[in-house]
Amino acid sequence: MRTFWGIGIFILIGLITAIGIGFFSQFNNTPSAYDDEQIGLGQQTIIKFSYVVAENTPKGLAAQEFARLVKDKTNDSVRVELFPNASLYNETDEVEALQRGRVQMIAPSFSNISEVVPEWMVMDLPFAFQNEAAVEQAFQSTIGDILLRKLEPEGIIGLGFWGNGFQQMTSNRGLLVHPEDFRDLRFRILPSKVIEAQFHHLKATTISIPFNQVYRSMESGKVDAGENTISNIYSKKLYEVQKHLTLSNHAYLGYGVLMNKSFWEKLPQNQRKAIAEAMQETTAWANQNAISTNRKQWEELIKKNQMGIHILSPEERREWQQTLEPVYQEVEPYIGKELMEAVYELRNRFSDQPPPALDYNND
Ligand code: LMR
Repeated sequence: MRTFWGIGIFILIGLITAIGIGFFSQFNNTPSAYDDEQIGLGQQTIIKFSYVVAENTPKGLAAQEFARLVKDKTNDSVRVELFPNASLYNETDEVEALQRGRVQMIAPSFSNISEVVPEWMVMDLPFAFQNEAAVEQAFQSTIGDILLRKLEPEGIIGLGFWGNGFQQMTSNRGLLVHPEDFRDLRFRILPSKVIEAQFHHLKATTISIPFNQVYRSMESGKVDAGENTISNIYSKKLYEVQKHLTLSNHAYLGYGVLMNKSFWEKLPQNQRKAIAEAMQETTAWANQNAISTNRKQWEELIKKNQMGIHILSPEERREWQQTLEPVYQEVEPYIGKELMEAVYELRNRFSDQPPPALDYNND
């Protein structure tokens, strides 16, 4: 009899527990596991956008503008989540993270893209672009078309190009005025055969270091020098760890804005259209904003008075240019004839145009 009652109570407890669990789970709104690739089921589509710079930089500001426009144009059905300051990935792993779908968007520098598609190093060539208008022309002509097309076999869609600005030289071991001043200095560089060749011709050595480690590597003396835009020098406070700056405008730093191809292809047509429009509007705004951000931060940098500044004269610029001209022939095998010819043509066409916004003739 006792056994009978024991079994009865056991069954009753089991039943109450089962009913309780069922009842609770009906009202429990814990979302089911979210799959980033899963779209179009009535929920918001999330685009994770990762980049290595701060929010107050040309790329950071462009990313915020893009996120705002996408939200507006898709009635909030697509949300762009921003991950600045290499908080998710740095330059060494962000392209792979994009290809694997861990994030849906990145905007790496041309050099970083050249590790996957070597032709992108064409944009790193020293003294290839006379001013910002020449860079814009490169984005919008054969050069831009070829570069974007080359991304697709890598599982990447190139949505466009965002500019940052012209590169300037910084050093902690003496001012860089003539090519011989570079001899034996250790430069932090972005990974690019063009940039390696550039410093090789200046008789300096190079170490490729991700952006989020640049400050420390300069502070610790692991490297003596670097090249970057005013905006990156300013926002990363590199003026605290580099004593000298040469306003050289010797090359251009910009970005490809990239999206995971299979993610893009799974988006409904109306969302793709809205994203493409947002991208076009952001780009037009961003490339103008990049010029004014660099200008504002250049003025701030001068006010801080923490670096010795030298503005390269036209004669000194010619000297650098002559030293670096052999880089063009050396890297042609990686870049290809068609792109090289397009660069030569652009260089000639803009040769008598005004210099970049921050220049020896303007300041
Ligand atoms: C750098 O590493 O110097 C730049 O590529 C950083 C950036 O994205 O502007």
